[in-house]
Amino acid sequence: MSEIKRIGLLCSGGDSPGMNCAIRSVVRSAINANLEVYGIQRGFSGLLEGNIKELDVSSVGNIIQHGGTILQTSRCPEFKEAETRKEAAHILKRKKIDALIVIGGNGSFNGAYTLHTEHGIPMVGIPGTIDNDISGTDYSIGFDTAVQTAIDAVDKIRDTASSHERTFIVEVMGRKSAAIALHVGVCTGAENVVLPSENVNVEEISNDIKRGIKRGKNSSIIIVAEGEKEGLSHRIQEQLKADFELDSHVCILGHIQRGGNPSGQDRFIASGMGYLAIEELLKGNNSFVTAYRNGHVVAAPFDECLEKKSEYLPQYINLVKTLSI
Ligand code: F6P
Repeated sequence: MSEIKRIGLLCSGGDSPGMNCAIRSVVRSAINANLEVYGIQRGFSGLLEGNIKELDVSSVGNIIQHGGTILQTSRCPEFKEAETRKEAAHILKRKKIDALIVIGGNGSFNGAYTLHTEHGIPMVGIPGTIDNDISGTDYSIGFDTAVQTAIDAVDKIRDTASSHERTFIVEVMGRKSAAIALHVGVCTGAENVVLPSENVNVEEISNDIKRGIKRGKNSSIIIVAEGEKEGLSHRIQEQLKADFELDSHVCILGHIQRGGNPSGQDRFIASGMGYLAIEELLKGNNSFVTAYRNGHVVAAPFDECLEKKSEYLPQYINLVKTLSI
């Protein structure tokens, strides 16, 4: 592998709190090692537009505490096309960028890794998604902050729910991921959690609510992962009313979960990942993910981190149900 002098850096897919910490860490670690860093705005779409400019030490000053990403991000379905990737490789070569660092989820990693295998561009993936659903890494940047944001919201909803003796169906993010819903369910004392992969058993939800009321509870919270088909929470609400004569309110938390100041955990892990990205590239590792395993940031082979985590976590459902009896 020829010597690396210039590094490209982009964010891809949904933004997540802590991406700025990773950007800051990559830029400062690289400059400290006498490398140049080029920030690519708006993800792979921006790369194709040539939206690239050099970052210096002060361009990442005062960003560690901010959510979102100063580089902005995008979803770029065209990147699944070989011709598009060829064009991206040309642009990187024209700009003399020797290696690319991509902060994003497993969809972004698939695009990045294919670009590496097809065109030989050294490639690093930094896990960044609130969904924490990338295989091969225990953690992805943003998850802790997103969970805390949702917990804060549900705690507030619980205040009004118990004042009015109401049931609330609270929808959290996770089109294909159960992680936020399960964590929020456990941490807010929810009565039930509906996962994205499940056929919803509204009768069971109704039984849980009625059992609670019978033993003197004055509110119920059902956490629903958004799933792929919009409107799930409202469908559950309608069915609870029609089939079980239960009134409920729906609150969809939506994108507030993606914003906000990153937590200490997100800042710490993102900073470690950015640093390791540069350290490993300089050692000659030309294709890896800065994975979090057993409490440490390590370089993991890309192909272990391309899938969505598929583990189903029934013990957390049981935990939610047991603790809310
Ligand atoms: O980034 C992950 C995520 O926030 C998922 O939890 C959610 O399902 C999806 O992105 C929403 O994406 P968009 O903002 O593009 O609608």
